Amino acid sequence: MSSKLICFEPTCRAQFAVTEVLYNCPKCGGLLEAHYPGWNLDPEPVKSVWRARRISNAPLDQSGVWRYREIIPFLENFDHVVSLREGNTPQLAAPAAAQYGGLHRLTFKHQGFNPTGSFKDNGMTCGVAQALRLGMKRVACVSTGNTSASMAAYASAAGIEPLIFIPHGNISYGKLAQALEYGARTFQVEANFDQILALVRGLAEGLGIYLLNSINPFRIEGQKTIIVEMLDQRDWNAPDWIVLPGGNLGNTSAFGKALRELKHWGFIQKMPRLAVIQAEGAAPFYELFRASERRRLEPVGHPETLATAIKIGDPVSWPKALREVEESNGVVEKVSEQEIADAKAVIGKCGIGCEPASAATLAGMRKLTAEGVIERDADVVAVLTGNLLKDPDYIYRYHTGQLDAPDGTRIRSTFANQPIVVPNDPERIASLL
Ligand code: F0G
Repeated sequence: MSSKLICFEPTCRAQFAVTEVLYNCPKCGGLLEAHYPGWNLDPEPVKSVWRARRISNAPLDQSGVWRYREIIPFLENFDHVVSLREGNTPQLAAPAAAQYGGLHRLTFKHQGFNPTGSFKDNGMTCGVAQALRLGMKRVACVSTGNTSASMAAYASAAGIEPLIFIPHGNISYGKLAQALEYGARTFQVEANFDQILALVRGLAEGLGIYLLNSINPFRIEGQKTIIVEMLDQRDWNAPDWIVLPGGNLGNTSAFGKALRELKHWGFIQKMPRLAVIQAEGAAPFYELFRASERRRLEPVGHPETLATAIKIGDPVSWPKALREVEESNGVVEKVSEQEIADAKAVIGKCGIGCEPASAATLAGMRKLTAEGVIERDADVVAVLTGNLLKDPDYIYRYHTGQLDAPDGTRIRSTFANQPIVVPNDPERIASLL
């Protein structure tokens, strides 16, 4: 079977060889996606193969991405695959979070269990495989932190050079530390994410560097497997809703593509609805979705949120994301800094924990159930995109009453859990217990 790149724009649909280095359609500038002419998937035998691979010791089968290789068939062979055993992330029941979110039940699909602690690893193993297939020696990305951590790890593991561009002073130390430790050349640019992305796209083309932002269609293919693994773990019973945070909107695009393909081939009968949650200070997709005519996304010039992972004002994948949310009969919601902070503490208290951007999901659900958009007895899966340890500074400040929103207002520490300073005195300590 052949694989192609196809222009996502319905009026264009131009096709290109999968071995061309392209991020946008050369004809119309539209986004590209992987396309498989002659593709045919018979769900029942494929499901059995996928299940059997779970007990295989072959590295390809142990990967929670490449185990599902039939759904991402863009490679001719697997010689270029570098796996760090990505995917394989759990689904966790969280009754206390369900109650907070106004639901009878809720499960978290926790992508923070990935090797570098975020969902980016699902896509990055595919992006780096494609870079190797193209013979690239250097890869680059602009990042709010998680993409760079992931790309640094996978590129270094593959023996190619990672070049990272991040907004100076605007990513968490946990993520910056990962990039440095994994050996990436790291540039802290004095500009915001959207400005740096425009800058690096120009540089990459001129210098023959392969760009691994989520505009890269092969990363989107890898991120599809988050949905495939989720449904496999649920014995192919599709939930009513899948809730996720929205930043650059790559994940929304990937989830929608996966669901469309799985429904088309008969892996699932019902299409879950997507609920995308943005931070109030960086919510251009929310505004687009609310507009009477959803023509063009109006970028937010100065996005602001403490959930730095989703501090993006001009998300590149909005045309794909819009179509996917519409096709799934989904919704877009936005939440405040206070709502994110409190929801995050609730997820932590479930013994699960996540980074701030991920907590937007629970905050969004709480709003959507209150509004009656999500019914209380709905079957909901929320995707926690990043690990709790990505941003410990935020956590310490919240629990000690020192967390300030970008506009300077103090976040209320509704669920504060202050550490207690005590002298080395057993009686004093006992009196506090
Ligand atoms: N959650 C986390 C933890 C993220 O790191 C990101 C994106 C998102 C949600 C939003 O996902 O962009 O697919 O809508 N982080 C990117 C980065 C932009 O550079 O690490 P999206």
